[in-house]
Amino acid sequence: MLTLRGRAPRRGKALSDLGILRNSALLIRDGVIAAVGARSKVETLPEARAAEKVDVGGRVVLPGFVDSHTHLIHAASRAEEYELKIAGASYEEIARKGGGILNSVKKLRAATSEALKKRAGAALREFAAYGTTTLEAKSGYGLDVASELKILRLQRELNLEQPIEIVSTFLGAHVLPAEYRGKAGGVQQYVALLTERLIPEVAAGKLAEFCDVFCDRGAFSRKDSKVILEAGKKNGLFPRIHAEQLTRTGATQLAVQLGAASCDHLEQVSKADVRALAKSNTVATLLPGCDFHLGLKQYAPARALIDAGAIVALATDYNPGTSPTLSMPMILSLACTQLQLRMTPAEAIVAATINAAYSLRRDRQIGSLEAGKQADIAVFDVEDYREIPYYFGVNKCWMTLKKGQPIFQKATRE
Ligand code: NIG
Ligand code: FE
Repeated sequence: MLTLRGRAPRRGKALSDLGILRNSALLIRDGVIAAVGARSKVETLPEARAAEKVDVGGRVVLPGFVDSHTHLIHAASRAEEYELKIAGASYEEIARKGGGILNSVKKLRAATSEALKKRAGAALREFAAYGTTTLEAKSGYGLDVASELKILRLQRELNLEQPIEIVSTFLGAHVLPAEYRGKAGGVQQYVALLTERLIPEVAAGKLAEFCDVFCDRGAFSRKDSKVILEAGKKNGLFPRIHAEQLTRTGATQLAVQLGAASCDHLEQVSKADVRALAKSNTVATLLPGCDFHLGLKQYAPARALIDAGAIVALATDYNPGTSPTLSMPMILSLACTQLQLRMTPAEAIVAATINAAYSLRRDRQIGSLEAGKQADIAVFDVEDYREIPYYFGVNKCWMTLKKGQPIFQKATRE
C-alpha cells in the first residue's frame, strides 16, 4: 500500500516518499478512512470485525489519481487534424486556418447539452477505469456567454450525478473567438466581456473555483492574461495558467507574481522561470500527453524543476486537440521515459496524487491514504508499484473506489 502519508505539497527528495506499507489494511467508515496500518492491527479493531471485507489479493493499493488539468467537455474528436499533423502541418498552422480550438468551439456551440453530457459521462466512466477519482475540468470551448455557462452548468450537474469529483475552472480566455477576430479593438472587447460580465457571473453562480488563461502566441498576451486573472482573483476565482507551451511568454513569472495555484505545460521555461517556481507555492503541472500526441520532442524539464525544489504535478490535459487520453498511468509512463522528464516511478505517483490535490486546494481531503481523508483508492493488478508506469498502453487498474464505494472493477475470468 502506497499511503503517501506526510506533508503536502512535496518537493525535491520528498517527491519520492511513498510511505509504503506491506501486509496492510484500511478501515473505511462512511466514505472516510478511519484507520490505516498493519493488517493484524486494523483487522482486530472492534469496528473492523463487523465491516464488509474487500480482499485485493496482494495487489498494489494507492490513492486514486487526481487529474488536475482536463478539458472534459467537448463535442467531438479532431481526428481530421491528427491526420493533417501526421502529414506535416503544425498545431499552430492548423489553428491559424480556423482549425484547432476554434474548430472545437464551432462543434460545441452546435451540440445539445444532452449530447455533451453523454460524451462527458462516458469519459468519466473511463477515467474511473484508469484509477482517477477526482478531476479538474475547464470550460473554454464555448467562448460566448451562453456556451461557457452551459459547460460550467453541465460540469456542476455531472459532479452531482456521478461519483468522480469534478473541480471546475473557468477558461473563457482559451483563444479569441472568431466573431472578435479581424475587428479593431476585438481583443479588448472580448477581455472586457470576460472581466466585466462572465467572471462576475461565474463567481456569483459559484460555477467555478479557478480561472485559467491560455497565455501563448496565437492565444492571449501576458498583459491581457494578467488583467483576466486579476479580475478572476478579485471575484474569488483562484488563478491557474497555461504557460510556456508553444513559446515562452513570461506567463510563469506572472503566475508566481499572482500566487497562482498552478502553472501548466512549461515546455519552454527558462532557467529563471524554474528558479521562480521553485521559490513559490505555485505548482508546476506537466502535461506530457500533449508533446507525445503532437509528436514534439521538447518535454518540460521535470528533472530540473524537481532538483530546483518546485512542486511538480502531472495531469492528462484530456482534450481533443493536443492530448486525447484519459489515462493517468499512460502519463506516468511518459513522465518516466521521455527525455527531459525522466521522473522516477515514485516521483510520478506523488506528482499524480498529493501534489495534484494540492494544486486543486484539496490536499487535506484527498491525495494520500491517511485517517480522516476520503477513501479514494486505486488498486492496480501489479506486484510492484514501479510496474504502474512500466506497463504502457494496457490498463492494469483493477479496482477504483470513490469515498469507499467501488466505481470500477475489472471484469475477471478465472
Ligand atoms: O492544454 N493549450 C491550450 N489548450 C489545450 C489545447 C486545446 C485544443 O487544442 O483544443 C491544451 O493543450
Ligand atoms: Fe489545457
